[in-house]
Amino acid sequence: MAIKALSYLGITSEKIQDWSDYATKNLGMQEIDKTKNSLMLRMDDQKQRFSISNDGGEGLSFLGWEVEKKSDLDNFASKLNENNVKVFRGQKFLCDKRFVEDLIYFKDPAGNQIELIFNPFKTDDEFKPGRAISGFKTGICGLGHAVLHTNNIEPLVTFYRDILKFKVSDYSFEPIRLHFFHVNERHHSFALVETGKVGFHHFMVEYKNLDDVGQGYDLLQFEKNKIAYTIGRHTNDYMTSFYSYSPSGFFVENGWGGRLINPDTWTPELTDIGPSFWGHERLHLPEDERLKFRNKRMEIAANGIQAPLVIDCPWLYQNQLNKNAK
Ligand SMILES: [Fe+2]
Repeated sequence: MAIKALSYLGITSEKIQDWSDYATKNLGMQEIDKTKNSLMLRMDDQKQRFSISNDGGEGLSFLGWEVEKKSDLDNFASKLNENNVKVFRGQKFLCDKRFVEDLIYFKDPAGNQIELIFNPFKTDDEFKPGRAISGFKTGICGLGHAVLHTNNIEPLVTFYRDILKFKVSDYSFEPIRLHFFHVNERHHSFALVETGKVGFHHFMVEYKNLDDVGQGYDLLQFEKNKIAYTIGRHTNDYMTSFYSYSPSGFFVENGWGGRLINPDTWTPELTDIGPSFWGHERLHLPEDERLKFRNKRMEIAANGIQAPLVIDCPWLYQNQLNKNAK
């Protein structure tokens, strides 16, 4: 019984046209259906990855997680019932709306709607990106990752780790309390950040080419209040990324080059080096709070803490080996 990937995301927004422009022209997704009150998007061969509808307010509507086997849905439902979580079976109408074979849904301790789904439908129709990108890195690693604000991290950690069996990637206490989880080789598909707020912090989509990220950055960086974090590199998943403001106000991380881990051998670790090797200046924060993160970066730069070198040239690799052997 296992959850294997983040399959889709639902967002509630009154700004359907802004989302349509942002998702296609900036993020590079493909619009598959749009009405006055809803918008559906693709990012690969899965029929639907994002569903945005005007259900009131701005923020997360639901998170869809794919399970390995159809019987996992019943097993998770029993486990959730044992823990006093009310579980509902998705009727045919809802399964059709989500383009999946079967699903169950329930609320997490913070009231977020979680959907566990079996067999998201694929299509042979070619993915046509909304801007000229190389594409998104999805496949067995799922659509990317989702991060939630919380004012009380403990019950949520217990819920996701002990009931849904998410595996802990790492966690930290300073300068802010964070908990990262994986469900496949992606370093994290889900994270919780104890900011004192509630709601959606950000989702991340990973591109196949660093230039997709750089060109996306150029499209926004000269406009006012579009970039929330400047380009930088994270210390835990090695993602090079920037964060832009979505039309709903929460952030979208545009990433490239995330690390893959081995979930069978990974041991959760406490990290205290701060979230970024360099960059990721948090433009959305007041100066004094930005300074805490900036000081942390200056400290790790001074100590030469960096991601491991990736040598993808066989000649250079052999030279490095020879040098090491001397
Ligand atoms: Fe992220």
